[in-house]
Formats: sequence, C-alpha cells, structure tokens
Amino acid sequence: MAEKILEKKQHVKRHGFSVIFVHWVVAISTFVLIFSGFGQMPLYKRYMLDRLPGLSWVSDFSITLSIHYWAAAALMLAVAYHLVFHGVRRDFDMLPRRGDIRQSAQIIMAVFGFGKEPENDKYLAEQRLAYVFIGFSMLILIFSGIIKVVETLPRTNFPEDFALWITLLHNFATILIIVGIIVHLAAFIFKENWPLLPGIFTGKIDRKYVKRRHSIWYARAFGKKR
Ligand code: HEM
Ligand code: HEM
Repeated sequence: MAEKILEKKQHVKRHGFSVIFVHWVVAISTFVLIFSGFGQMPLYKRYMLDRLPGLSWVSDFSITLSIHYWAAAALMLAVAYHLVFHGVRRDFDMLPRRGDIRQSAQIIMAVFGFGKEPENDKYLAEQRLAYVFIGFSMLILIFSGIIKVVETLPRTNFPEDFALWITLLHNFATILIIVGIIVHLAAFIFKENWPLLPGIFTGKIDRKYVKRRHSIWYARAFGKKR
C-alpha cells in the first residue's frame, strides 16, 4: 500500500502517484466531456457563446465531436487502469460497506453540530458512497457512449427506438455525473474536509488529522509506529 508516515511525522502519505494521476485524468476528461457533449446540442450557438473572442469553434460540431472522442479515450484508459491497479492489489478501501448510509448521515449531522462522528477508516462512509455513485454513472456513460460510436459507423443500423433509448441513457447519466460532481465539490465547503485537499495534489496529508478522524485507518496502516 502507498501509506507512510513522513517528515518528522508531520504528514502521512495517503496516495501514490497512480491514484493522483487517475483522479486528475478522470476529473479533467469529465469536464471536457461535459463541455464537448453539450456542444453536440446546438446550445452554444443559441446562447451565443461562440460569439466570444477565441470561442468561435465551440459551435463547430466536427470540432466538439473530435474533442469528445479524445477525452472519451483518455477517460476509458484511466478507468481501465484504475480497475486493474486496484484489482491486482486487492485494494478495495473505496467500496461501500454495510451501514454506510447510516454512518454518512451521522457524519453529516456531526458537521452541523449534532452528535458525534463515527470512527472512520481510510475513507469516510460518504466518500465510499460517492465513489460508487460517480463510478456507476461513469460506467453507464462509457457503455452508452461506445454504443453511440458503433451507431455512427457505416453499415450499422440500429432500430430507431434503441438509438433513442441509448441517447436518453447517455443524457440521463450526464445529469447524474453533474449532480455527483456538484455534491463532491460541495463536500469541500466544509472545513472538516479541507485537510483531505492537499492529498489529491501531493499525496500527503496532516498526521494529526488522520489520527483524529481516520483512526481505524491510522491504527491499521501505522499501528506499530504510533
Ligand atoms: C476541482 C475539482 C476537484 C477537486 C479539488 C477534487 C478533490 C478531491 C479530493 C480532495 C478527494 C479526496 C481524496 C481523499 O480521500 O484523500 C477526491 C476524491 C474523489 N474525486 Fe475528486 N476532485 C475534483 C474533481 C473531481 C471530478 C470532476 C470527479 C469525477 C468526475 C472526481 C471524482 C472523485 C472520486 C470518485 C473520488 C473518491 C470519492 C470521494 O472522495 O468522494 N473528482 N477528490
Ligand atoms: C463523463 C462522460 C461523458 C459525458 C458527460 C458525455 C456527455 C455527452 C452529451 C451531453 C452528449 C450530447 C447528447 C447526445 O447526443 O446524447 C454526448 C454525445 C455523444 N457521446 Fe458522450 N459523454 C461522455 C462520455 C462518452 C464516452 C466515454 C463516449 C464514447 C466511448 C461518448 C460518445 C458520445 C457520442 C458518440 C455522442 C454522439 C455524438 C453525435 O451526436 O454524433 N461519450 N455525450
């Protein structure tokens, strides 16, 4: 595992390069996919975004489609790498566990000053739920996206109804992922979660924070060195 106590024990290493790299490839490609996906609809012309200096290309269908394809390729590579990486290491810390819904409610209540937070493992229960929600939406987008690509190939002729359902599925999952991202980013409005932020850039987070809030993980990963 990646975790280590660092620099006179001020910090602990929470993530290795792979996790940080995958997070940012997924995050950036998703933003690009949302932007270029909306470009497939005639939105940017209608709202005159293409009249802004340097943005005339945003309503050019062939350009936004090509951007959508390149970003989709980056996303799918990162997702495949993520699944193999964690699968081979049998590292399933992010998968939901029994009782996560109740624990998430406790964590949210505690943030607002009601009751006490449960003891946490490497990830909070709400992070494990966020992970499956975002991951599931991502898989629907990839699945329906691949079918949409096949559909554009010459000689494919899907029934009209099927094509319509796939487009609806792709659009519905787009809404899910946007909601997921808003909730994900909103978590960082709360000061309690700020100590996690440096971890996704440098891999390191404050040791005292880990000891206090992620006590199960701390004991499991660093128990002997306390
Ligand atoms: C400016 C944008 C973003 C910032 C600052 C950010 C920051 C973070 C941080 C600090 C974590 C916590 C890692 C930990 O527990 O150590 C995290 C986790 C995660 N991020 Fe992001 N993120 C951003 C965008 C995104 C986007 C666009 C996606 C998905 C499309 C995403 C998906 C995830 C997932 C699935 C996790 C794991 C579950 C969770 O912790 O909620 N992130 N991110
Ligand atoms: C975060 C991931 C993604 C988001 C948010 C997203 C969003 C969108 C949106 C909003 C549209 C326009 C509405 C529509 O025609 O359905 C679209 C179209 C499309 N997307 Fe995606 N998409 C994502 C991933 C993918 C992936 C992974 C693929 C391929 C593997 C893909 C392939 C396509 C195709 C082929 C179209 C139709 C373009 C056309 O009209 O010819 N998308 N996407």
